[in-house]
Amino acid sequence: MKFLFALATAMLAPCYVQAQAAFAHFMVGNTWGFTLQDWENNMNQAKAAKIDAFALNLAANWQRQDQAFNLAFKAAENTGFKAFFSFDYAGNGPWAASEVLRLVQQYKNNGSYYKSNNKPLVSTFEGPDHANDWISIKQTTNCLFIPDWSSWGPQGALAAGNGVADGLFNWNSWAYGPNPLATYGDYAYVDALATAGNKLYMMAISPWFFTNLPNWGKNWAWKGDEVWHDRWNHIFHIKPAFIQIISWNDWGESHYIAPLDNTQWGLFEPGNGNAPFNYVDAMPHDGWRTHLPFLIDTYKNLNPTVGQESVVVWYRKSLGRNCGTGGTTGNTASQMQLEYHPADVLSDNIFVMALLGRNAQLAINTVGNTKAWDYIPDGNVGIYFAKIPMSQVISNGGQVHVIVTPPTNPITVQPTQLISGTGCPNSVTNWNPIVAVAAGAASTARAPATLANQVCIKGIAVANEPGFNTLCQFTCQYDYCPPGACVCTQTGRAKTRPPETGQPGYPVNGDPNYSGLCQFAHRFGFFPTSLCTTTPTTPTPAPFSPFTPPVCRNGTSLPSTSPSYDGLCSYACNFAYCPINVCQCTETGPQHPAPPQTVGGSWKGNGSNDAGLCNFACRRGSYCPAPCIPA
Ligand SMILES: *[C@@H]1O[C@H](CO)[C@@H](O)[C@H](O)[C@H]1NC(C)=O
Ligand SMILES: *[C@@H]1O[C@H](CO)[C@@H](O)[C@H](O)[C@H]1NC(C)=O
Ligand SMILES: *[C@@H]1O[C@H](CO)[C@@H](O)[C@H](O)[C@H]1NC(C)=O
Ligand SMILES: *[C@@H]1O[C@H](CO)[C@@H](O)[C@H](O)[C@H]1NC(C)=O
Repeated sequence: MKFLFALATAMLAPCYVQAQAAFAHFMVGNTWGFTLQDWENNMNQAKAAKIDAFALNLAANWQRQDQAFNLAFKAAENTGFKAFFSFDYAGNGPWAASEVLRLVQQYKNNGSYYKSNNKPLVSTFEGPDHANDWISIKQTTNCLFIPDWSSWGPQGALAAGNGVADGLFNWNSWAYGPNPLATYGDYAYVDALATAGNKLYMMAISPWFFTNLPNWGKNWAWKGDEVWHDRWNHIFHIKPAFIQIISWNDWGESHYIAPLDNTQWGLFEPGNGNAPFNYVDAMPHDGWRTHLPFLIDTYKNLNPTVGQESVVVWYRKSLGRNCGTGGTTGNTASQMQLEYHPADVLSDNIFVMALLGRNAQLAINTVGNTKAWDYIPDGNVGIYFAKIPMSQVISNGGQVHVIVTPPTNPITVQPTQLISGTGCPNSVTNWNPIVAVAAGAASTARAPATLANQVCIKGIAVANEPGFNTLCQFTCQYDYCPPGACVCTQTGRAKTRPPETGQPGYPVNGDPNYSGLCQFAHRFGFFPTSLCTTTPTTPTPAPFSPFTPPVCRNGTSLPSTSPSYDGLCSYACNFAYCPINVCQCTETGPQHPAPPQTVGGSWKGNGSNDAGLCNFACRRGSYCPAPCIPA
């Protein structure tokens, strides 16, 4: 993410549009064996979760394309559901403009095609270098065009095709390394879209990310853990025009929320992604749909009732350091990120998310062993959240036993799948969790205010300097949560601000990113003396953004790597490409920009797996040392 921006002195005032709809990303490529009935079952499940439509993702030139769309739209008609196209330009190369045009023309007037203000919605996964195609496609079809062109960032995507996009879908919805999930990237989109003339933001939300498909060059995890809880609060603060859940049925990346379906698992068969084992088999995620009706209706400002109290629990089946990683990294050097051991990104916790109409006690193992909630909704009605260390059930035989006790109708979640304290199934860690759910009493309780009448009441910062977190924690609770510096983590009824002190506030270090925060903190009686002062200071901008996470800037070969990749590691790690299975990173900081790729072709290390080092170096022309040979 190179497009982070920061703005702390003034609040953004983008023109928010009405929250319109919630979609789920549907991988058509997995439906080779689908019957009409299969499509109908999936659509009925999505409809029950109050999802408005499927974004039908399809790569170019798929053999069953026309049959699949025919079945999908027939099923949508039969079930009263909707769908729209999301043309995938990365899966199998770019789509031909004529083919896109043919499909949109064929289906745009279908009663089951999703429309916004009478315009058929069309999206993409990537393809910004074909943006010009869309100028005439839009003219001919009059579609509402909201592509995901995340690889170009908001500015690049808005400029593409002479500004052809009517809005943008931002794919990025996971946390960086072990950090909490932030919204700096989202606000970069919100700000750029507002500046471009009130264009629409489609915000992504995803419960997890783990993929181990080495044949397809993918083997990493991003932080899941609490993001499914945290991201809803970000949505409630940002109030985007659309949200899209990633995904309905992308098994390979572990973020599916659809019912398990072994007819869709061809990718795990030999010769495909080459996964070490099928990491989704017997790992249901259905529980993640349980709270969607409440959450989606809240997003749409409908102030829904709780309906039925329920508790959803998710966890991995073994501790993160019991077994080998399977080569999986936390983060990925392939996207110029600092890599971690996956156990340093995915924590050994059990995650508990409950929808309750009243306060309730949380306990693990036995009723008396109570735990505090980490998150309680304003007015005690809505979503509760907690994490509990896995060690607490390991010492109890690995049986997860979560008990939530409102005054009546206690709810117990006790799945059959245990957590292993030594070893793991398949001898390689499965970084994908299972999700379990149990229901309690019916409830007609509602949150004390609709979303439109809620403000920010809690927040944090995810910055390289801890001072921002100190300040945001104070200011965000009183609805001063400037999106360039802070992340709002809870909305609710406005709290009364403390009496005004009349004291001015200035950043001790002069960094203008602190200005608004210091001003607000002093005005309402918070005086963190190491950060803010009442005397004006000389504005001294930081040399680089305190909100951009550090990357690798130097490295050496791991001692165990043979042949030694010292030279290659030193070269590539310097430019943020530092794969931890081969190199160790010895220095972190802001990114040194890498020289451009000037040479085609493929290289590999003569010896053990080089994790892409030879390609990274040799393609840049100036350095292609001895262990590298043509692949
Ligand atoms: C925050 O700091 C970065 C780095 O100095 C700067 O680029 C950015 O403009 C700053 N933002 C504000 C609002 O001061
Ligand atoms: C929508 O498309 C499906 C599949 O091609 C078709 O069966 C149905 O009749 C179409 N509906 C309308 C209203 O065109
Ligand atoms: C990387 O580290 C090595 C060993 O400390 C040092 O000699 C080299 O100059 C460093 N490279 C850069 C680009 O800083
Ligand atoms: C690869 O390494 C082996 C063993 O060190 C060596 O014999 C061989 O010549 C090398 N191949 C190339 C193409 O350099």
